[in-house]
Amino acid sequence: MTEFKSLDDIDFAGKRVFLRADLNVPMNNRAITDAARITEAAVALRELLDGGAAVVLASHLGRPKGKAVPEFSLRPVAAQLAGELGGAAIEFVDGWGGSRPEDAAAALQPGEVLLLENLRFEPGEEANDPAFAARLAALADIYVDDAFSCAHRAHASIIGVPGLLPAAAGRLMQKELEALKAALEEPEHPVAAIVGGNKISTKLGVLENLIAKVDHLLIGGAMAHTFLLADGIDVGRSLAEPEMVDTARRIIDAANGNGCRLTLPTDVRVAAELAETADSKAVSVDAIPDRMMALDIGPKTAAAMNAVITQCRTVIWNGPLGAFEFPPFDSGTNSVARLVAERTRSGALKSIAGGGDTMAALVQARAAADFSYVSLAGGAFLEWLQGRELPGIAALKT
Ligand code: 3PG
Repeated sequence: MTEFKSLDDIDFAGKRVFLRADLNVPMNNRAITDAARITEAAVALRELLDGGAAVVLASHLGRPKGKAVPEFSLRPVAAQLAGELGGAAIEFVDGWGGSRPEDAAAALQPGEVLLLENLRFEPGEEANDPAFAARLAALADIYVDDAFSCAHRAHASIIGVPGLLPAAAGRLMQKELEALKAALEEPEHPVAAIVGGNKISTKLGVLENLIAKVDHLLIGGAMAHTFLLADGIDVGRSLAEPEMVDTARRIIDAANGNGCRLTLPTDVRVAAELAETADSKAVSVDAIPDRMMALDIGPKTAAAMNAVITQCRTVIWNGPLGAFEFPPFDSGTNSVARLVAERTRSGALKSIAGGGDTMAALVQARAAADFSYVSLAGGAFLEWLQGRELPGIAALKT
């Protein structure tokens, strides 16, 4: 990690550290439904506190658009985080009014942590207002960014504050950057990218970037149906984007021109409706009945994808290969995910996954724990897959 300072490169004992984490957790009626991001944030927090820092912890939650919206308060996160830290006291700063954050930060002692209210309650956060960035920077001596999943946002707490304070990457950011580097910048070849999900239109940049870098591109999910259309195959009632057929052809040509081998479905599992109870069958892609839709890759396609993976040293995965939320349409994703997990466990493969539904699909396949790295980032992971420089990463470069 020569381009970035990490926690190993800064002396934080006795200092106040502004820790930007991603505590943007899913909630239902102000109850946290998945605390994974809080668990991850606790790692850097613990290290800083144990090393004698006082921590001013900050995050956004949801999209309150510059206003204090009670349902997006970070208060429930403070309680959950305290539990993660073994019951440690976490002072929650209830709002941005007056000098509340400033007073709380001034009173903070080494080994203590305060959690600021949702950064996006203040319009200056998303606008990257220099005055708001300066206000945040004045709360601490050092800036640590542990929010890779927010690195695609050019917001005050992501790019403004590191311009004003000595800055370093937290442990999670460091782990994420190292994993991504190993996957796409300096991977062991052959490299396979598995891309699923519904639409080519939302992943065009991802596909174009991957074609230039990987040896194999395996395409599943509903986006594969548009590629089948481009091949003149009738996909029945399957989800597809007929208006993207020319684009799909262009991607196929570009892949051929770059020596990137494409694997598309040769068979699919079809049903008349998307439901767990639906009667389904596997058919060849040239025999999709008119009144049915493809909802998963078929067993022959899964076997072909697995045969490719068996030859590879690195796998990058974004997007499920079928409607995994409705078994049996999780079969394709499960089969491929389990092979990737098994080969990773045996040391034959490095596997990195992330973005959108990917984590949920791999957890359901009971494969996530064996992957080399599964990112909790959504949009940031996709932008990285497009080969873009993320503003939050650029801001950390030494
Ligand atoms: C995420 O959940 O991907 C990050 O927290 C970023 O959230 P945002 O898309 O609202 O900026």
